[in-house]
Amino acid sequence: MNFTFDETHLMIQQTARDFAETELRPNVSERDEKEEFPYDAVKKMGELGFMGMKVAEKYGGAGLDTISYVLAMEEISKVDASAGVIMSVNNSLVCYGLEKWGNEEQKQKYLVPLAQGKMLGAFALSEPEAGSDATNQHTTAVRDGNFYILNGTKNFITNGKNADVVLVMAQTDKTKGPKGISTFIVEKNYPGFSVAKKERKLGIRSSDTVSLSFTACKVPMENRIGEEGFGFKFAMKTLDGGRIGIASQAMGIAMAALEESIKYAKQRKTFGKYLAEHQAIQFKIADMQTKIDAAQMLLLRAAATDAENPNYGTYSAEAKLLASKIAVECALEAIQIHGGYGYCKDYPVERLLRDSKITEIYEGTSEVQRIVISRALLK
Ligand code: CAA
Repeated sequence: MNFTFDETHLMIQQTARDFAETELRPNVSERDEKEEFPYDAVKKMGELGFMGMKVAEKYGGAGLDTISYVLAMEEISKVDASAGVIMSVNNSLVCYGLEKWGNEEQKQKYLVPLAQGKMLGAFALSEPEAGSDATNQHTTAVRDGNFYILNGTKNFITNGKNADVVLVMAQTDKTKGPKGISTFIVEKNYPGFSVAKKERKLGIRSSDTVSLSFTACKVPMENRIGEEGFGFKFAMKTLDGGRIGIASQAMGIAMAALEESIKYAKQRKTFGKYLAEHQAIQFKIADMQTKIDAAQMLLLRAAATDAENPNYGTYSAEAKLLASKIAVECALEAIQIHGGYGYCKDYPVERLLRDSKITEIYEGTSEVQRIVISRALLK
């Protein structure tokens, strides 16, 4: 395995870092406080090619590799983890699936503007009774001539309020269980589609998370992705890649926690010397760096693996499992190093902790990642 980044990787990393510092840093706390979606920044991310990083250039994307995507996701999430998840969902859960399994017409109509950042996408698998238990889909799609009629509710949908198109998993044949689930491209203005409850969250507060309601929502037949019954495999394979995006988001949070800790340790004095001169703090910093490096190795291994490789899903599950765990741990340590100041909103570390927790939950909880990893070993 090669551990050096090439020139393109370093250039992407630097571009993302500069963008995050100039466009995201200035109002990140205010957006968090007010639960404000970063509209302007997301538009600029589209212009920079960050919304369709891996999509081929002929479909409006940047045509980059997964390592470039990881590095950009880390830099964006270091400063604003909400912007990170908005970007990750559009890239990994929407553009990826459309490019891989969409037909040419679907790609021209939806993938091109999504990859260019002119449209925003969402991915609707979760339901009130289908979170980890994702096969338990209640949303139905019944064929009616050249249309499907969708009925049901999706919840915890990232980007749901601001999305122009949503990839919706729905049951086309209940008798077939997971093999009777199909995926549909639903436009926000289709009659019968509406945005319902907006969630008020602990963290990633400037990304929007909503429930979506489908009431006799008429979706053209040509908006089905792949064959009828392919929807669950579509969702699972897409999530294998999505977990690399969330692991990158978690890494960004962990790296930010370390950076803030080092900065603070060099400026705050206790007992007549800088925190950085106390061994108790030095050891915490050393442990944080070691955890970050370990998780980064797993993440880069997953990112360097082809999606068709049989180990891809377990590698991405391992990366997400560890990266999300260490994100929470590093954010907690950062607060400990900052003491009382870390518990207050004048410093960013309390937000890092709030933002970190979701990485252990969405795109498969840590328990789901353990299911994926252990099943591969024990089959
Ligand atoms: N690739 C291809 N096929 C897969 C697969 C994968 N990674 N994982 C499962 N499948 C297939 C299985 O092979 C099986 O098909 P066959 O019968 O043909 O073999 C079918 O899918 C059903 O799979 P299981 O029997 O394994 O299903 P299960 O009920 O035991 O569930 C699970 C497995 C891993 C727990 C799965 O349900 C899961 O991943 N749950 C978590 C869902 C999740 O991650 N949701 C995230 C929502 S999106 C989100 O969070 C976005 C956001 O906001 C940021």
